Amino acid sequence: MTRILMVCLGNICRSPLAHGILQSKLNEDNFYVDSAGTAAYHIGNQPDYRSVKVAENHNLDISTQSARQFKVSDFDAFDYIYAMDHSNYTNIINLTRNNNDIGKVKLFLEINTSIVNKNVPDPYYGEFIDFEHIYNLIDDTCNLLVDVLKG
Ligand code: 4NP
Repeated sequence: MTRILMVCLGNICRSPLAHGILQSKLNEDNFYVDSAGTAAYHIGNQPDYRSVKVAENHNLDISTQSARQFKVSDFDAFDYIYAMDHSNYTNIINLTRNNNDIGKVKLFLEINTSIVNKNVPDPYYGEFIDFEHIYNLIDDTCNLLVDVLKG
């Protein structure tokens, strides 16, 4: 079983999409996917209604997800930890205990060589079109990630 954790700030906009999209592309017998936020603002909340809606427009249901905060034990529970932007990458790196933990933390967009800006833009204060943009960016990058994960 390969275990993958998607991480953003609030765990209500970006990482729930990355979680749902990646999960939909992988066999659940071999891959476990989850998401978390580095901040505690939205613990227990459903994903933002705009992320739920954009996913629904692509026939993906993320409405049953519940936000949780990233915790140090996630370094033990997961093989790969993907940060949605540099800020959250740094937040996670600041919690690492050793080189093994550090080695698990990746910037999600590093895998997507066609994208120059390695931050998935935070859409929280944006418009619905920003959610459509990040959906496509995350979906394209998850396709690349699936190829890597399946080796
Ligand atoms: P996310 O977006 O990190 O993609 O879930 C945000 C959600 C909430 C806040 C910021 C970003 N906030 O400031 O509450």
